[in-house]
Amino acid sequence: MSDITIKTRENGPLLVTGSITLIDHLGNKYDTAGKETIALCRCGASAHRPFCDGSHKACGFLASETVPVAPPQP
Ligand code: FES
Repeated sequence: MSDITIKTRENGPLLVTGSITLIDHLGNKYDTAGKETIALCRCGASAHRPFCDGSHKACGFLASETVPVAPPQP
């Protein structure tokens, strides 16, 4: 089993780190050889989807989700 990390970027892409295979809806593999981390667009504005091209900065994409923190126990 591989070890993959997916990290959200505030107002930006999903950073995927690890040994992954990225496949389109037709079953074709994207060439990610030699890339330790890839950035996947989640704003929809990239001209190079599924990869982020930085367009999220200009399109006003907002996303700042965080992991819910449990309240302190009494
Ligand atoms: S998240 Fe960067 S272009 Fe969409």
